[in-house]
Amino acid sequence: MSNFVSVTRDGGVAVVSIDNPPVNALSFHVREPLMQALVALRDEPSVDAIVIACAGRTFVAGADITEFGKPVQQPDLRAIIAVLETIAKPTVAAIHGTALGGGLELALGCHFRVADAGARLGLPEVKLGLLPGGGGTVRLPRLVGAVKALRMIVSGSPIGADEAHAAGLVDAVFEGDLITHAVNFAREIARKGGPFTPVRDRNDGLGETDLVGFDAEAAELAKKARGLEAPIACAQAVRNAITLPFDEALAAERALFLKLVGGDQSRAQRYLFFAEREAAKIPGKDIARRKIARIGVIGAGTMGGGIAMAFANGGYPVTLLETSGEALERGLATIDKNYAVSVARGSLSEEAKRQRLGLFKGTTDYGDLADCDLIVEAVFEEMAVKKDVFGRLDAVARPGAILATNTSYLDVNEIAASTSRPQDVLGLHFFSPANVMKLLEIVRAEKTAPDALATVVELARRIGKVPVVVGVCHGFVGNRMLAARGAESEALLLEGATPSQIDRAFIDFGWPMGPFQMGDLAGLDIGWRNRKARGQTAVIADTLCEQGHFGQKTGSGFYLYENGSRIPVANPSVEALIRAKAAEKGIAPRTIGADEIIERTLYPLVNEGAKILEEKIAARASDIDVVWVNGYGFPVGKGGPMFWAGLEGVDKIVARLDHWHERTGKDIFRVTPLLRQMAVSGSWEGVAS
Ligand code: 3HC
Ligand code: NAI
Repeated sequence: MSNFVSVTRDGGVAVVSIDNPPVNALSFHVREPLMQALVALRDEPSVDAIVIACAGRTFVAGADITEFGKPVQQPDLRAIIAVLETIAKPTVAAIHGTALGGGLELALGCHFRVADAGARLGLPEVKLGLLPGGGGTVRLPRLVGAVKALRMIVSGSPIGADEAHAAGLVDAVFEGDLITHAVNFAREIARKGGPFTPVRDRNDGLGETDLVGFDAEAAELAKKARGLEAPIACAQAVRNAITLPFDEALAAERALFLKLVGGDQSRAQRYLFFAEREAAKIPGKDIARRKIARIGVIGAGTMGGGIAMAFANGGYPVTLLETSGEALERGLATIDKNYAVSVARGSLSEEAKRQRLGLFKGTTDYGDLADCDLIVEAVFEEMAVKKDVFGRLDAVARPGAILATNTSYLDVNEIAASTSRPQDVLGLHFFSPANVMKLLEIVRAEKTAPDALATVVELARRIGKVPVVVGVCHGFVGNRMLAARGAESEALLLEGATPSQIDRAFIDFGWPMGPFQMGDLAGLDIGWRNRKARGQTAVIADTLCEQGHFGQKTGSGFYLYENGSRIPVANPSVEALIRAKAAEKGIAPRTIGADEIIERTLYPLVNEGAKILEEKIAARASDIDVVWVNGYGFPVGKGGPMFWAGLEGVDKIVARLDHWHERTGKDIFRVTPLLRQMAVSGSWEGVAS
């Protein structure tokens, strides 16, 4: 018995209970007493059956991630499962909450699994740059079949109890007191008598697996891996489960796990796991939260509609306000259509769609916002319009309601000052599509009250967003750094690179798309309007916009999109335009390699991040990484720009920025003092504090 593992008896059934808050991770201090308990119960003649259950909110949510990268303390999970499999009496895992990673592997070491109806089961190791290292790749296919196991393990997405039951992963699903049900289940099984076959010796799922079909599916998944090693290793390990004897497949899984856990990609992904949780922590833990029951959204355009859906998806009733009945109808119709697409795809039921649509109330009357606890504005990006909206809100919102702007660039302090209650005003910068994208930049203005901030951070987590608190500056963290990343794009074109070459360098780096593909997708007119407002120019992009080439929506931009296709095709007339503009400026084209493209785009990105830290616009380097991975597609396996800078070598980055600064004199390459210090100290945190 220990504080973390206890055993109780219900007649002949022993219940082993793990209690390691918050998520019952399999830390060393759990594994040691768990192993002892199992050995003792195996050898205890008065015990007929064993149930493994957990206290608190969940079954075991996996290995203890903080132990990775350190020497393994025995017994490890594999040793515990090996002992489980020597037990002749029936063993039953009683699963509530989530059985994830090592937690599900522990359950797979039992003869039987029973689950609460609300439980979720999965092997999410791939999201940490790993594969299941406790036999999951070898045992899961034996129950659910190789293809289903492949999908579960490569996606890392958990499945519900009913689906797990249908797939053969779970033997019974119960509502109500799970332990009582599990004990009765175990007693009945024991009464019927054995022998009980461990999963390692079962073959129900594998049967006659179609290896050709499996390989085709694995190849499809590999295409989506985008340079990540873990999904490929996961697929290989599941394949081994089909082609190799159990013990050989298990040994191969171990070897692959050890390789991944020691690599940079997994290190980056584990860092991001904790970085996301750290970003949601703000000083003042004990601050009381404000009540949020109803949410108002102003503007039912691209962002307002998505924001309203994000809240409705989280279960909140939403009042959506537009300037006219027609605009409102249009906005609501788009929302309806988006939900219908989800139903058609099978990701939402008709019933859930009806429920969600039932949460919307449309209006054109500001008075209808009086009962809202949070009101998010998503109207045109113009200061005068925003101020007008906030003035009206000031007149109608209830005292203590939180007033938020979704502005991309504007000064939130100035917006707050247009009300009589700046303490209640902050920025909620969603990303498009707002019902899908996880990132939420929460902009803390000078006078934002701590409880207003704490309330929206908690709300963001509740609706499944990844919140990052940022300070006020032009473009906040993400868009400000995006401008730094793109500052050299035109110069690279004029000097001889093509849009496709630049985009290719980005894709090879691991981005989902390059900057020109992204510009074409978002619409080149957005940047054009923004530049005009700020008196800036970009000779190539401006010319394209003047000629009506706005990107995908007009069928041409930096690339051609023929017959409504979304696949970019190189555009010879853009390349001719680039050469003509270069000639006008007297620039002779030269060959530009991928290294130079990365140096002139991603090194300024890191430098701007360091400036943001210096100015305390972001609290931690890891917050910047969370923004870039969740909002802009920075490759997860590289951990975000600030983490990647460490991998790349900050001294190298500084030296090359100095080189480009000397050569061009451009500000974008001027090394900020913090980056220079980082090159010496090797730690952002030490330097930033
Ligand atoms: N190890 C160590 N700490 C963990 C952990 C783990 N596996 N899972 C969660 N935690 C910590 C979090 O860091 C957080 O700590 P904090 O409060 O100090 O910030 C705390 O537990 C609560 O976590 P969440 O805020 O994420 O709580 P939620 O209720 O939102 O989510 C969860 C719960 C769904 C279980 C989520 O925490 C989660 O997905 N955890 C990771 C699951 C996972 O990846 N398991 C596989 C691990 S690898 C493995 O098992 C290898 C094996 O194959 C050998
Ligand atoms: P949009 O043009 O699609 O929608 C704006 C909507 O606001 C329109 O439907 C319009 O009728 C309505 N509107 C205008 N004035 C109004 C008023 N006084 N009262 C009520 N409704 C009013 O614009 P979009 O793209 O949704 O942008 C909205 C805001 O979100 C802007 O501040 C923008 O910078 C920001 N944003 C946009 C992103 C994007 O990718 N489009 C991403 C993140 C933020």
